[in-house]
Amino acid sequence: MIVCVCNRVSDRQIRERVQASPCALRDLRRELCVGTQCAKCLPTALDVMRESASEPNAVAISRVV
Ligand code: FES
Repeated sequence: MIVCVCNRVSDRQIRERVQASPCALRDLRRELCVGTQCAKCLPTALDVMRESASEPNAVAISRVV
């Protein structure tokens, strides 16, 4: 599923990033450009981050967004 339409970022990309190393929303913004245009995707991106952080292979998610 595409989370960020403006930058064509999928939930899979976000999950992979969260599971690779601890990150915050600002890291997704910087690395994947999520939410850097209209920003309508930020709530969904945050939901995907939280879901990913609770998955078995996940590493810690930063509380700083
Ligand atoms: S949908 Fe993500 S910046 Fe517009």
